Amino acid sequence: MLDIKRIKNNESGKMLGYYSVLGFDKEPFATSPDPEFFYHTREHDLALTNLLIELRLRRGLSVIFGDVGTGKTTLSRKLLHELNKRGDMIFHMILDPSFTGQDQFLVSLARNFNIDLPKDVDLKNVDILELRDTIEAFLLQKTLEEKRTIILLIDEAQKLDLTTLETLRILLNFETNEQKLIQLVLLGQLELYSKVVHMNNFVDRISFKFTLNPLDVKETGELINFRVKKAGYKGEKELFTNEAISAVYNYTKGYPRKINMLCHKCLKEVVMRDQAAIDVKIVEDVIQKEQQWLTATKNSTESLTNIQEINLTENN
Ligand SMILES: Nc1ncnc2c1ncn2[C@@H]1O[C@H](COP(=O)(O)OP(=O)(O)O)[C@@H](O)[C@H]1O
Ligand SMILES: [Mg+2]
Repeated sequence: MLDIKRIKNNESGKMLGYYSVLGFDKEPFATSPDPEFFYHTREHDLALTNLLIELRLRRGLSVIFGDVGTGKTTLSRKLLHELNKRGDMIFHMILDPSFTGQDQFLVSLARNFNIDLPKDVDLKNVDILELRDTIEAFLLQKTLEEKRTIILLIDEAQKLDLTTLETLRILLNFETNEQKLIQLVLLGQLELYSKVVHMNNFVDRISFKFTLNPLDVKETGELINFRVKKAGYKGEKELFTNEAISAVYNYTKGYPRKINMLCHKCLKEVVMRDQAAIDVKIVEDVIQKEQQWLTATKNSTESLTNIQEINLTENN
């Protein structure tokens, strides 16, 4: 049984972290893309394995597409985790690729890979060709002499502007007869596809492309149970009943981010109710509260807009 009294009588008057009450060592449904909590779903696994092969073979450009919350950032963290285990990879990850021009992008690339820029380089008035030559020389030296693989990962790649995408295409021209000198991994929402599809020679250059889809009901259950166990839960029975998992799936449509959010709320609720398992009733109640909140917020936003419109009309 859960020690609800202990929670309620907590000295500070605050609720103890629900995860320690349930016997967790860690929070099972944290929203951070922690590689330790990465569950190898069929699609995530396929994407990860292929990315590692592409990088090892130095094939150049890989692109992972996926809707918000399908697990792109988590996948990239897992990939970095794997790359970290190898000494022959030099990599850098860009989390927010909002660059204002080719010069800004190339200078940041050079800095992030610790490339020595010519001493007299004028950062306000960069000589693009010189900068590209310096980067190419660095890539050649690292790849051919030091036998290292240079990797640039870009998350939120749908934010890349056309100039930067064009610059990436140019970087892919740095190659030997057998391999590309820089490996690019782009992860982006589906708008990225509409951006690159009209660019000459961009889509043709993608050596590995993959779209992450939401999970099915079976994998939704596996993901939940995996995260619960990974967080240290030792209960004999599963913490979420099968019906509860189906309800989570129906509401979240298998989007990992939504699954995490909902399960987190269900865990708090199970503690409050002093129950041993999360059943379908808890999930439905949590969803209902969520929907009530959405409706109330929508209504108050609408009435606020109406008031503003009335004020505008009155002021005119
Ligand atoms: N394969 C996975 N295993 C475990 N948790 C995952 C997995 N994929 C996504 N998640 C969880 O779902 C949430 C959203 O994932 P995220 O990588 O941020 O999505 P995206 O970058 O596509 O918007 C994160 O909290 C993450 O922990
Ligand atoms: Mg992301």
